[in-house]
Amino acid sequence: MEKSAINTYIGQHKDRMLNELMELLRIPSVSADSKYSDDVLRTAEAVRQRLEEAGADKTEICSTKGYPVVYGEKIINPALPTVIVYGHYDVQPADPVELWHSPPFEPVIKKTDIHPDGAIFARGSCDDKGQMYMHVKAFELMMKTNTLPCNVKFMIEGEEEVGSPSLGPWIIENKDRLKGDVILISDTSIIANDTPSIDVGLRGLAYMEVEVTGPNRDLHSGVYGGGVANPANVLAKMIASCHDENGHITLPGFYDDVQELSAEERAEMAKAPFDLEAYKKDLNIDDVQGEKGYSTIERTGIRPTLDVNGIWGGYTGEGAKTVLPSKAFAKISMRLVPNQNSDKISELFTNYFNSIAPKSVKVKVTPHHGGEPVVVPTTSTAYKAASRAMEETYGKKPVPTRGGGSIPIVALFKKELGLDSLLMGFGLDSDALHSPNEHYGVFNYFKGIETIPLFYKHFTEMHKK
Ligand code: BES
Ligand code: MN
Ligand code: MN
Repeated sequence: MEKSAINTYIGQHKDRMLNELMELLRIPSVSADSKYSDDVLRTAEAVRQRLEEAGADKTEICSTKGYPVVYGEKIINPALPTVIVYGHYDVQPADPVELWHSPPFEPVIKKTDIHPDGAIFARGSCDDKGQMYMHVKAFELMMKTNTLPCNVKFMIEGEEEVGSPSLGPWIIENKDRLKGDVILISDTSIIANDTPSIDVGLRGLAYMEVEVTGPNRDLHSGVYGGGVANPANVLAKMIASCHDENGHITLPGFYDDVQELSAEERAEMAKAPFDLEAYKKDLNIDDVQGEKGYSTIERTGIRPTLDVNGIWGGYTGEGAKTVLPSKAFAKISMRLVPNQNSDKISELFTNYFNSIAPKSVKVKVTPHHGGEPVVVPTTSTAYKAASRAMEETYGKKPVPTRGGGSIPIVALFKKELGLDSLLMGFGLDSDALHSPNEHYGVFNYFKGIETIPLFYKHFTEMHKK
């Protein structure tokens, strides 16, 4: 199908396509919080219905131990290639809600400096309902204009934001119906609206919780202060010891499996446009920080990290209360790069925290979810097809980039189904995913709907050769 025909269809259905997404964004499908479980299930049904309306066959809400996977397919000819679309209909919690300028589940379109055509403000607008729904609308467009060039299967899950605990078992049980040629995912970012890019890697994750216990109860900080260990002080010191003065991580063995990039690969990465001043301005910081010897793009793409995600203990209410906490806690994430392994890193972290704990406290380390890092080949048919499709719609060849976030299931797609993923994202890192005031450009939404059919076309044609 030609670009002009795609744009004619989009032009005729623009308002409806936008309104349907807004409708989906009104359902608070927060997978982390059980109080929203009915809403998460309602979202699954809404997605199934939209898939069916768009022309998918065998649409199904597939039960799992957790939230269901929404499935649908269109097989036009078994001899043709099959694209498997993956996305997620769950979203991150919206809090702190008071920092939103409009309610997180009442989507509104507002213009911003970066999005002069307007952006949809709502939790999940970019991550991932907006990006997932582009695939449903692109499919509808191909179905209604009789231009679907190959087979397609949809697999939309509802637990990505909590580590995809049920999707792994589900793909293993459904290997037969998941036969295909590539997994197509829009759940990552491009560099800028005038600089398309395709992520060729994702970091892995090891997420840990640490509990430090001192005396058996909170104590008067004057009466006991100085005489016993303060778990908050101890925890702070333990965390501080995880990095040296150059920003390197000090956990013994942490870098053992880290794949170092060659000078050529690093030079190639450095070609990707990156505006440090704009980056600092967007975040309102005077300087960046990180591992010595690496650029910001490298620090967030090809280097592993260790970061506190939350830390608490003692008195945090209004005013002052003079008290030594009995316990202190921290949630700590480590982003991993090839060829690190999340189980191995979790174990190494546990050993380190146990080994440095002073005798005056007890330390308990609990691993949460994890995921493995991935790299996707730029030599694949899928990459070439995506590159050509984006070049046609953006007027520029996309730059390969390494995304800093994680989509743990991608490594399992490779391991269990033997399939590479193609990470054709359309969001921007500055779209505030997981933050208050998440938004997704109207331009980005329609750019995705315009580009996806061209991907199908090129992928199918290149496959025949
Ligand atoms: N879509 C993101 C991952 C992402 C965002 C990758 C931007 C690259 C660029 C995904 O929904 C996400 O947030 N993943 C979690 C995984 C975790 C909950 C297991 C993450 O990265 O923290
Ligand atoms: Mn996502
Ligand atoms: Mn996310």
